[in-house]
Amino acid sequence: MNLEMQTLLRGARSQAPLKLPERRPEVLEPGERLHLRKRIKRLLRERHAVLVAHYYTSAELQTLAEETHGCVSDSLDMARFGHESDARTLVVCGVRFMGETAKILNPEKRVLMPDLDAECSLDLRCPPGEFQRLCDAHPERTVVVYANTSAAVKVCADWMVTSGSALEVVSHLHARGKKILWAPDKFLGDYVRLRSGADMLLWDGACVVHEEFKGRELAEMRALHPEAKVLVHPESPAAVLEQADVVGSTSALIQAVSRLDAQSFIVATEQGIFHKMREAAPGKTLLPAPTSGRGATCRSCSYCPWMAMNSLRGVARVLETGENLIRLDAAVRERALVPIRRLLRFTAQRKLQVYGNNDA
Ligand code: 13P
Ligand code: SF4
Repeated sequence: MNLEMQTLLRGARSQAPLKLPERRPEVLEPGERLHLRKRIKRLLRERHAVLVAHYYTSAELQTLAEETHGCVSDSLDMARFGHESDARTLVVCGVRFMGETAKILNPEKRVLMPDLDAECSLDLRCPPGEFQRLCDAHPERTVVVYANTSAAVKVCADWMVTSGSALEVVSHLHARGKKILWAPDKFLGDYVRLRSGADMLLWDGACVVHEEFKGRELAEMRALHPEAKVLVHPESPAAVLEQADVVGSTSALIQAVSRLDAQSFIVATEQGIFHKMREAAPGKTLLPAPTSGRGATCRSCSYCPWMAMNSLRGVARVLETGENLIRLDAAVRERALVPIRRLLRFTAQRKLQVYGNNDA
């Protein structure tokens, strides 16, 4: 199903071409790897720090975060964990909006990131000035923004949502007669609009990783693997979402691999997730969903170049030096807290259990 034109605010986004960072996978000799792991463990203890990592970071970082009592999770649980942890320093291994969210929720904590240039295409494609103008033009609408936005964009919002909470929040607002202005992911926005029935105007943004999954090629792959269940992150295009057995946050997709009876899965999200999926269900077959269809250009190929900027060397360096501190203007931080706190209260009240709720 195509996005309905009247809901999509075409042109309501930065038109500047997006330059993807070069691929910089971290290559370590076994000796250096061992040395870095030891050094990071020592520094974490000395600095009263924890690692808060996303599932798209390297297996190495995910393992280390778990071994040191940090967390590996989706963006909703990263925010919750950082908020509930009594560590004095949070080292956020993810992308910039995740670091900013941690700082907004924890102004008294030091929030460090291995690389401050680890951005997100959704965030980059939603400049705050343009978004503010759009909000000003629609004062009657409730502004709901996806977590993948800058603090400056969250300042304009009534609610923040994550992939694991968007449908529940918008359904709740729709039931109260609210009309929504949504940014920035048009695919997630349209999925939520169709499932909730809410009146939503959508910002014209997309994730460079998920927009590349291809509906026709996925159908062909399913024909070859009729027994496989299809797991799709909701940042994917409608032609892919329509074929999903489960649509959900990264946590929900990992949980589905062990929860469902099937032996094989076609997975439409960033490749970093396979590490946890293999751990959750050893022996099951995991097939990456196709990205490069006929005549299509695959720029990122299930690979988030910004997530890949997180490295063991970077973690060790920022713990040692205290550099790459997330700093936010106090007024921005206080105002951006409003939509985030609303989401956390909402999920706590409802005990929002996102796993498996979005089975298609
Ligand atoms: P999750 O909240 O599902 O982890 O998604 C974050 C993200 O950036 C997906 O591309
Ligand atoms: Fe952003 Fe897409 Fe990377 Fe997620 S995968 S952090 S949405 S660019």
